[in-house]
Amino acid sequence: MSTFRRELGLMARYRWWILIGALLGAAAIASNVGLMAVSAYLISKAAIVTNVAAVALAITAVRVLAISRAVLRYLERYATHRATLRILAGMRAWFYAAIEPLAPARLSTIHSGDLLARIVADVDTLEDLYVRVLVPPVVAAVVTLAASLLLGAFDPVLGVALAAFLVVTGVVLPLVSRRLTRGPAGAVVAARADANALLVDQVRGVADLLVLGAGDRHRTRTLAAGRDLDRAAERLAEARGLNAALVALCTGLAGVTVLALAIPLVTGGALDGVVLATIPLAAMASFEAVMPLSQSAQLLDTTSRAATRLFELVDAEPEVVDPPDPAPPPATHGLDISGLRFRYGAAEPWVLDGLDLSIPAGGSLALVGPSGAGKSTLVDLLLRFREYREGTVMIGGRDIRAYRADDVRAMLGVVSQRVHLFNATVRDNLAVADAEATDEEMEEACRVAQLHETIVALPEGYETRIGEDGIRLSGGERQRLAIARAVLKDAPILVLDEATANLDVATERRLLESITRFMAGRTTLVISHRRTVADRVDRVVTLAGGRATEAGRAPARHREAGAGGA
Ligand SMILES: Nc1ncnc2c1ncn2[C@@H]1O[C@H](COP(=O)(O)OP(=O)(O)O)[C@@H](O)[C@H]1O
Ligand SMILES: [Mg+2]
Repeated sequence: MSTFRRELGLMARYRWWILIGALLGAAAIASNVGLMAVSAYLISKAAIVTNVAAVALAITAVRVLAISRAVLRYLERYATHRATLRILAGMRAWFYAAIEPLAPARLSTIHSGDLLARIVADVDTLEDLYVRVLVPPVVAAVVTLAASLLLGAFDPVLGVALAAFLVVTGVVLPLVSRRLTRGPAGAVVAARADANALLVDQVRGVADLLVLGAGDRHRTRTLAAGRDLDRAAERLAEARGLNAALVALCTGLAGVTVLALAIPLVTGGALDGVVLATIPLAAMASFEAVMPLSQSAQLLDTTSRAATRLFELVDAEPEVVDPPDPAPPPATHGLDISGLRFRYGAAEPWVLDGLDLSIPAGGSLALVGPSGAGKSTLVDLLLRFREYREGTVMIGGRDIRAYRADDVRAMLGVVSQRVHLFNATVRDNLAVADAEATDEEMEEACRVAQLHETIVALPEGYETRIGEDGIRLSGGERQRLAIARAVLKDAPILVLDEATANLDVATERRLLESITRFMAGRTTLVISHRRTVADRVDRVVTLAGGRATEAGRAPARHREAGAGGA
């Protein structure tokens, strides 16, 4: 199916709005044409008659048309703006719903600035499809017909001449302008995307650029990108300006032509001289309806490019798809991994290459291994963020591919290495894990995470706003907030991915003690590249070369200390 057909499909729900907007728009322009015609008639007639009664009807008509023109224009704007806002809201929701299942595997390859551009700018552009692409041709068709018939009523030649000029302005010029602007318009979009992406990246990294003394170099790059954008925009403006001039030329020529055609009709006696001024004025007024069509033609390309970018994501197959007949969540939560192989792409090396790992329900295991060994990758697989095709991962004796992905995630309390904190209060950030949690439950979770004291010391306690991505918290505080979230979620399986990496030794020890208590009865996977956590778990396994090897049990001395804490 062509992109345009799909775009129309998106708009099909709004067809009544399109029709109403178009009819009101056509009626407003028709009122204006009528107003011009009747005014010209009134002025000419008033110059030759002495009796006001002879022009009473025309005076009334001028009043009615002047008012109806304004009222209809208002109604048209009201209807189209309402429709536009609805369409916008509807499309944002449609697009968000479509991309949600793609996170994070499919979205990770898209630049975040680009994703934002798609959600905001491309959806905004598609809105143009309604106001500027679909509505104007309908308006133009209705007005062209009505104005040509009006002039045709005086003499068919006049109607035909006007129709010819309107068609040239409404069809030929738009096609020409579409050709002329296509190249520059594409260049503007590309240049703007480049400039935006560069800018977003740069603003994010501004602190690092300053520290590394690379600010000037990057500024030069940004300025160059800005100049490219300017040049492209200039070429586009030239093409558009040329088109606007041609439209004005056609409008003027149409007026002169119908006037030239009407004069012999008057001198020949076929037409009353008093309507002579009416003809060019009505003709020229009708061009208001075809003027927007050049822009419509240009936008045809812009909207289809935006739509293509949106459909690209909407059509992307989510990496993880729920089974047609999902199994109910299990009663027990032992974890059994066997022969698991995974790589990020066909051309990439195997990250996990025959991994065997097993944690009995309620048991605990530490997975240690160097950075890049694939530990966090394993967590993503457990969370069903990515799909594996070789080997099995079983929870409660069944492959996790048999469950709904959301059910699997509900079983897992994960403290991930890449925590995202929302620009909201501490409480809001905790509520992400359990929207119904009471104050006591939240405080309890924060006590387990050794965070309660810290929060209480903040200026507004649990109501303190922590800034974008928790910028106002230290690395260790962020981690502990993430741990508090996982505790609050109260899931049967606990996964800690380098959860204590940023803590000082004393805090880590206290945290491990309280976490050890929390671990009781839960299947726990602790990931670390340090051995400090090893004391607290049943088994320690090393991940290297994509496989796990038994690193033995933790020394008895430490185990006792761990058990003492439990
Ligand atoms: N999104 C990704 N796309 C491609 N490769 C990735 C991605 N994430 C991680 N990797 C690669 O997979 C390997 C394992 O990464 P990771 O699981 O994060 O290791 P660890 O958590 O053990 O430090 C690394 O070589 C890393 O470069
Ligand atoms: Mg990792």
